[in-house]
This record gives sequence, C-alpha cells and structure tokens, in this order.
Amino acid sequence: MSTAQTEVVSALNIAAIRAHFPSLAQTVNGNPAVFLDGPGGTQVPQQVIDAISNYLRSNNANTCGAYATSRNTDAVIAGARAAMADFFGCDPDETVFGPNMTSLTFAMSRSIGRQLRAGDEIVLTHLDHDANISPWRALEERGVTIQMVEVNEEDCTLDMDDLARKINDRTKLVAVGYASNAVGTINDVKQVIRLAHLHGAMAYIDAVHYAPHGPIDVRELDCDFLVCSTYKFFGPHMGVLYGKRNHLQRLQPYKVRANTNAIPNRWEWGTLNHECIAGITACVDYLADLGRQVNPAASSRREAILSAYSAIQKHEHELISILIEDLLKIPGLKLYGIRDPKRFQHRCPTVAVRIEGWTPLELATQLGTRGFFTWDGNYYALNLTERLDVEKDGGFLRIGLAHYNTVEEVQRLLNALREIVGK
Ligand SMILES: Cc1ncc(COP(=O)(O)O)c(C=O)c1O
Repeated sequence: MSTAQTEVVSALNIAAIRAHFPSLAQTVNGNPAVFLDGPGGTQVPQQVIDAISNYLRSNNANTCGAYATSRNTDAVIAGARAAMADFFGCDPDETVFGPNMTSLTFAMSRSIGRQLRAGDEIVLTHLDHDANISPWRALEERGVTIQMVEVNEEDCTLDMDDLARKINDRTKLVAVGYASNAVGTINDVKQVIRLAHLHGAMAYIDAVHYAPHGPIDVRELDCDFLVCSTYKFFGPHMGVLYGKRNHLQRLQPYKVRANTNAIPNRWEWGTLNHECIAGITACVDYLADLGRQVNPAASSRREAILSAYSAIQKHEHELISILIEDLLKIPGLKLYGIRDPKRFQHRCPTVAVRIEGWTPLELATQLGTRGFFTWDGNYYALNLTERLDVEKDGGFLRIGLAHYNTVEEVQRLLNALREIVGK
C-alpha cells in the first residue's frame, strides 16, 4: 500500500468528533464531565448505540435459522468479522469473537496447554496486565516453567536484553502487551515476535491498551495471536482475537460437538452477543469515517482506518506533550513511564503518577467530585505495581486520554490538580 493512500490532509475536527459521543455532554456537580478513563473503557459514538439498538429492534434471533431475522443475524456477524479483518489487516475467518480479552486468553491458554509438556517454557513480562499473565501461569500445573521479563524501572520500558536472554529453545510461547495499560509504554512487539520465532516459539500479543491509539497490522507484525477488546476503542463490551489460520486450524479447542470444525466457529462456543457484534461493525466504521474525513483519498476501509490513526496519533501527541510538561512542574509529583518528549512515539497518552502526601484514591476522589474521571490503583497491572513497590500504597493515579479529549480539558485537569494539592 502506498503511503499516499493513508496520508492525512487535515487535522481531526475535535468539536465535530465530540458531537458523535452523547455521553461527553454530561455534567457532574455543575462541571462538564471530563472522560480520562479511556484505558478502563472508552465512550461510544451514536452510530454504535444505534447499531446495537437496531439489531435488538429488528433482527434479534439466533443464527443459522431458515427465516429472515436469523439470516440477517448471520449477515450481521459476517459483517463484523469483515470489519475486524480490516481493523487487524487479516482475513475474516482469522477473527474470533468472545466476551472479553481475558476469556479469550483463558480459552487459548487451555488449548495451547494441551500440547505443552513439563520443561516447556512460556515467557511473560512484569509490564503486562494480569489477563496476559494468569491464563499462562495456570499452565504451571502441567509442569510448564514461566520466565518473567524485567522492566527498566526508570522509564517503565521492557528490558529487551532480559527478554532476549529468557527466550530459548525450550520456549513455546512469548506473551507480551503491545502497550501498558498502567504507564503507557508501547513495546517493540515486532522485535519480540522476531525473537520468539527465531526459537520456534509462538507470540501472543495483548493489544487491548494499544488499539485505541495506534494502527494494528497483524501480517506486518507476523504475530501468531493478537487480542483486543472493542470497548477500549469506542465499541461495545466484547473481545476479539486474531489467530493465524494454521494455528486456529491445528490447535484443539475444548468445544461442544455442535460446533463445526471450521474456523472460527470451532473457537466460538454457545450463542454470541449478537447486538454487541452489530456494534463492532459500527465502531470500526466510526474509525473509517474519521479516516475519510482526514484523508478523502482513502479508497478502502482499511486505508481509512490507517488514516484515522495517523490523525489520532498527531492529536494525542499534542495532548500528552502539554499534560506531561505541566505535570512534571507540580512539586512532589512522580511520573512513572517515558517522560522525554523525544521518545513520545514509544508511549500512549496514558499517564501514571503519584503525588507526595496524597493517595491515588484521594486524588481520584477529589478529581471525581470536580467532574474529572480518572482511575486509581493497579488496573490489574498488578505485576508492575508490585515490582515498583507502589501496590501497598494504592498504586497510581491514571490519567488516560483518548482522541475525543481536548487541549482545554487537559488544561482544566492540570488546574484542578494544582488546586487540589495546593501548588
Ligand atoms: C492491557 C490490557 N489487557 C487486558 C485487559 C483485559 O481486557 P478484558 O476486560 O477485555 O478482559 C485489559 C483491561 O483493562 C487491559 O487494559
């Protein structure tokens, strides 16, 4: 694909974007609500809400029946698979729907675990969300050895030398996050995947936190699996997994007899959440519409999605630059993660801080009453909060920006924080 087709010719129109998200107009105690909780789940545009309710209104049925609404349901699911294939850059039958990333990962670990023997190794990282740790740790009961990769504490990046040391010919799988939901680091997953493959291991990428912030290309990455959750990128509460066709065909799922052996059906048990699946197409189309606005030359949905992400990254870069520069001026504030503006392409606009004299919960509560929705604690990145020894003190305050946030919101947040801590 030529770069010209995904080139962005105009910036995001944030006011127009915000008008698509009804929830952004809410107030708290007379203050406009400021949604800085995207890493816990983003808001949804009207077209996602409409797609979900239209499905329930007009097509609510089970699949594979010999009547109109059931056939429409089959078409809705096929449409969402095609949308996710455009999102990932793969074929539709390589996408698997599930309730969330965690459930999909437990399903995959059970299946992959069937082939593992005592002495086989799995490489995990201290930077990851527990959903990409516990499902693999569960295989220790089969005699599998877990190797944990260290984190460089000064900037919360992955220790790539340690990773290279821990992958060896006994390694069967390397499970790594694309980006950290706690401190925002974007990992060099392409290099991780290359190292895994050099030793004949599979690479399992958790793209949940990365998906709202950057484009995904599973063929380019050459990952074996990649999983994300649509509720983190403007869609409904569901998870979607990409698996290389040969793995989805060769691995043995635990499934009911009524499931066929065809992919992806052999990985999708029971009745799916059809209304949310309708919402998935709408959320991918929302991104593609955004892409066509900033690049009218985008000729396919995939190109439009890539254009949307180029524009999203530019806007988020501006927001994070302002946020981090001014946060660092607050006395007693410690920021965990990359803080050098020259390296901001290696981080998401997700910031973890602590302020001397305040617990993260106290700060989040104070901000909450003023209408700023932030998060406190470990957000299940428990290995990292333990590693950095902040778990016992309430973890971090997390400020998570999304493309619908404005410069003005960031400035108001900074004012509010300064007012709360009296600096
Ligand atoms: C990086 C990361 N991985 C995995 C998960 C778990 O996703 P789900 O809620 O879809 O199971 C989350 C949820 O916050 C996350 O941020």
